[in-house]
Amino acid sequence: MENINLKVLSFSKNSQKIINGTEISENLKLQVKNEILSLKNKINRSPKLVVILVGENPASKVYVGNKQKTSLEIGIQSEIIKLDENTNQNELINIIKKLNVDANVDGILVQLPLPKQICELEILKTINPLKDVDCFHPENVGLMLIGKPRFLPCTPAGIIEMLKQKNITLEGKNVVVIGRSNIVGKPLALLLLQNNATVTICHSKTKNLEKLTQKADILIVAIGKANFLTKDMIKKNSIIIDVGINRIDNKLYGDVNFKDVFEKASFITPVPGGVGKMTIIMLMKNTVSAYKIHNKII
Ligand code: GUN
Repeated sequence: MENINLKVLSFSKNSQKIINGTEISENLKLQVKNEILSLKNKINRSPKLVVILVGENPASKVYVGNKQKTSLEIGIQSEIIKLDENTNQNELINIIKKLNVDANVDGILVQLPLPKQICELEILKTINPLKDVDCFHPENVGLMLIGKPRFLPCTPAGIIEMLKQKNITLEGKNVVVIGRSNIVGKPLALLLLQNNATVTICHSKTKNLEKLTQKADILIVAIGKANFLTKDMIKKNSIIIDVGINRIDNKLYGDVNFKDVFEKASFITPVPGGVGKMTIIMLMKNTVSAYKIHNKII
C-alpha cells in the first residue's frame, strides 16, 4: 500500500514538472476568443489573418494548417494563399502589396522558409508593419529592440508566457539560449534581457558549450537537432525549454533528450505539446492586436 502511495506521489510530482503548452494555450485561447467576441460588437467584423505558403515543404504545410485551425476555433477569419514552388519574388511582392491595402485584412504572415529564388528579407520588408503579426519586419524588430514593441515575436513571447504561468521569475536568473536565429534565438534573448535575466547566447561556434549550459538556471534549446541536450549538460534542478520540432520518420522529436534530462530538471517542456502550441496562440494574440490597431482601438 505504502509503495503504491509513493508511486502516486512521485507520479503527481513528476507530472507537475512538465510545463504543459497544450493546457496553457487552451486557457489563453478562451481568453482571446472572448476578447474577439466583445471587440466584434464594436467593429462589426471578425479579425482576418492571411497566411501565404509558397511551395510544398511538408512541415510548413502542417504549421499553416494548425494556424488556420486555431484561427477558426477562436473566431479569426483565415485565408491561406498557396503559391507554386516556382513563384518569383515579384509575384509574391505584388500579392503582399494588395493585402497591405486590403481593409478586410488585419494580419499577413509569409510562412518561412521560402524557395531559394526569393529573398526572405525583401519579402519581410514588403509586409505592412502594422499587419506584421510575425514581428519580422525590420521596423517591428527595431521597436522591440528599444523596448517599445508593437507586436511580440510569437515563439519568444510564448516561452516567456509559459514561464510566467508557472510563476517562474526571470529577474537575476542565468538564462542560456542555444541558437541565434532571427525567429527564435535573437529576439528571445532580447525579451529575456528586458525581463532582467542575465542572458548568454550560444551557437555552433561556441567553445566548451557544456561549461555554459551547466551554469544555466534556465536553458532554452533552439538549434533543430533531435535529442541534442543530455543530462550531463545541465545543472540539477534547472528549467529546460525545448523549442525543437524535428520530424524523423513521421515522429516528432525535440532538441532535448526528454527521457534522459527529465529526472534532473525541475521543470521541462515536452515536444509535442510544449512551445509549439504557445507560438500559435501568440500569433492569434498578435492578430487581435493588429485588428485593434487597424480599427484604432487602443
Ligand atoms: N517558420 C518556422 N517558424 C515560423 C514562424 O514563426 N513564422 C513564419 N512566418 N515562418 C516560420
